[in-house]
Amino acid sequence: MDEIKKAAVIGAGTMGSGIASHLANAGVPVVLLDIVPEGANNRNVIAEGAVRKLLKTLPPAFMQRSNAELITSGNVDDHLELIADADWIAEAVVERLDVKHALYKKIDAVRKADAMVSSNTSTIPLSMLTEGMSEALRKNFCITHFFNPVRYMRLLEIVSGPDTRAETTDALTRFCDLRLGKGVVPCRDTPGFLANRVGVYALQVGIVEAAEAGLTVEEADALMGRPMGIPKTGVFGLYDLIGLDLMVDVASSLESALPEGDAFHQVAAGIPLISKMIDEGYNGNKGKGGFYRQRDTDGERVREAIDLKSGEYRPSGRPVLDAALAAERNGLRALVTHEDKFGRFAWRVLAKTLSYAASLLPEVADDPLPVDEAMKLGYSWAKGPFEMIDDLEPAWFRRNILAEGFAVPEALKRVGDSSFYRAKNGRLERFTFSGKYAAVTRAPGVMRLGDISRARSPVASNPAASLWDIGDGVACLEFHTKANALSPESMALVAESLEIVGREFKALLFYNDAPHFSVGFNLEFALSAAKGKAWARLDRALDAFQSACLGCRYAPFPVVAAPAGMSLGGGFEVLLHCDALQAHANSNMGLVETLVGLVPSGGGCKQMLYRWTGDANNMEELFQGALETFAIIGMGKTASSPLEAMPLRLFTERDRFSMNRDRLLAEAKSRALDLADNYSPPQKPEFTAPGRKGLNAMHRVLDDLDNKGITTPHDLVVGRHLARVLCGGDRDTGEKLSEDDILALEREAFIALCDTAETVARIEHMLSTGRPLRN
Ligand code: NAI
Repeated sequence: MDEIKKAAVIGAGTMGSGIASHLANAGVPVVLLDIVPEGANNRNVIAEGAVRKLLKTLPPAFMQRSNAELITSGNVDDHLELIADADWIAEAVVERLDVKHALYKKIDAVRKADAMVSSNTSTIPLSMLTEGMSEALRKNFCITHFFNPVRYMRLLEIVSGPDTRAETTDALTRFCDLRLGKGVVPCRDTPGFLANRVGVYALQVGIVEAAEAGLTVEEADALMGRPMGIPKTGVFGLYDLIGLDLMVDVASSLESALPEGDAFHQVAAGIPLISKMIDEGYNGNKGKGGFYRQRDTDGERVREAIDLKSGEYRPSGRPVLDAALAAERNGLRALVTHEDKFGRFAWRVLAKTLSYAASLLPEVADDPLPVDEAMKLGYSWAKGPFEMIDDLEPAWFRRNILAEGFAVPEALKRVGDSSFYRAKNGRLERFTFSGKYAAVTRAPGVMRLGDISRARSPVASNPAASLWDIGDGVACLEFHTKANALSPESMALVAESLEIVGREFKALLFYNDAPHFSVGFNLEFALSAAKGKAWARLDRALDAFQSACLGCRYAPFPVVAAPAGMSLGGGFEVLLHCDALQAHANSNMGLVETLVGLVPSGGGCKQMLYRWTGDANNMEELFQGALETFAIIGMGKTASSPLEAMPLRLFTERDRFSMNRDRLLAEAKSRALDLADNYSPPQKPEFTAPGRKGLNAMHRVLDDLDNKGITTPHDLVVGRHLARVLCGGDRDTGEKLSEDDILALEREAFIALCDTAETVARIEHMLSTGRPLRN
């Protein structure tokens, strides 16, 4: 079995529906079956309802809505024959062994001889799933453990049994990696596999320690989040997201599977408040709330948090903790040595979690790499537990857990005064349990910038960005500010890199390993310039931004960008000037400047206008294209996948996308090298001004929106500035314009808007809340 042309998913709950939609994203037709609920008129109601729900979930489950058409819904009583020609049948029904066993019998009776069957179980060992299974099925059976939400979580844990054919494991691994874009980590058949074994333990430790230390839920989340390189949902926020009831089930199931003496037992029960909350229906975000809840008070939505002692809700705050700030400035060691109860909490959590992870060698794996991978891909930790121990220094960590009275895991003893990872001859190596180092290798076609940047020095660097030699004549520019907001320093490195690449390389790539390629122009910089009315300084910065973007466009070598996550505003303007994109399939992109009362001013208006009017054959088409550009930028439209970006021309025919985040860099590199053969830069375009007629048309659009009550007063001001840029200013319709003319208009509009109190208020609001202000 090499190719999966048709798939079936049984169980249309959270996971089954997620797996089915993602199979559809990969272009594979899929049958989705669930049970017939008692007394149902529509016997397919569960699976059909699941598809309807999938179309509404946020972030979107489908890369484009039409992918839903690839799913055929049905039920296991009437439609089991629909799975007879499926190449892969994924089981995602309730976590009950009896239900799964009964289902495997039914599947085995209809499946074709070489069909592969897998279970999505989180906690049941493969050895138990295969009890009583026919030998033929055992050969084609394994566990494929996806994470929720399936489209977005990168990890897939795969567990094969002693009877599983290598072909089955290989075919599923290849398919899930290449077509579904997952980071496939092979696991042993141990309870919780890798990610949940460490992740669930970490969560339990987090809530137990927070309650013991008398911390509020917000304080615990503020520490066990970003400062530790853990997503900002933190510990209580993640509990709410997963669901308190589900977490309790997973924890108790792990508890029953783990041998006596495993440290998990000490924290498995969590805190007594949880069962009280579940009894009262506080199951988390899917219901009426959990540790946090939203409440309407006097017509306003208020976020509340529960008091861990009294169990009463109170308005939720955003604590600013010195320990967290210390971590931001000086790293993990500064966090855990901070001398207050917050530093102490961070230390207790990490001491227990990291030493638990270390104690799992060699039971779950022979070396740290799969454990670190699982936590990074499955729980979105910035660093795996062994990488965190390295940050703290293994010898220091060992001394301090000893002082705490904790047992020192064997792996930590063995690593001694060295570290779990080291750079040797420009390559990254990891320490194996046997006591030797081995190279960190990736599957062919998988490339991590982190593997390079941890083992070598950059070609050029400043605090905002670095340029790396990634081999074969390709240089890679990495932004590395907070959320990759682009400052003048970032753009200075772009300018410097263009010179270096011109001399020493064949092509330039924009790429970083961070969750988001770039959230845009640094708003703090814009705000400080606006408040100080430093217009000349702002104009210089915008001019430098535009010049760097133009430099990318007209460089004598190809410039390719490989964005992932968000590429917004200024971040997207950089992409607009590249020769081609190799984007990740979950990329979110768009020009969102108007939301903060600005207009794109790094060449974004100019380049989008060119995309929409460059091919116009007559004035009518020109107006049409300009109006489309006006609507897209004016409304800050974004696309949540390259497929969605295509009709907006945020993505073009020369752009491609990669399903697997870990293959993005290598695929972008090969695209850049393809373009480097006989490369010649594009010609400078000439623009035809929509002029005053265009301006009138755009003003009519704004009046219409205003009459319908859609726009706010400041939206109209921003809209007028945008219209002026796109129409070429106060010019006659049909007049010719250069790129520089439009770029000057962009800067002028940006600065004029910064000089309004409303734009300043929008920027301040965005910086403090992360949400747009509708003033
Ligand atoms: P769920 O409760 O959301 O959905 C289970 C679905 O299975 C329900 O729609 C139910 O009607 C259906 N079902 C029950 N018996 C059936 C049968 N005999 N034939 C067909 N359908 C049947 O459960 P969820 O969360 O989707 O979990 C499914 C599996 O995935 C479980 O094994 C769970 O351990 C595992 N898992 C869950 C994760 C999560 O975050 N929810 C993460 C990873 C794995």
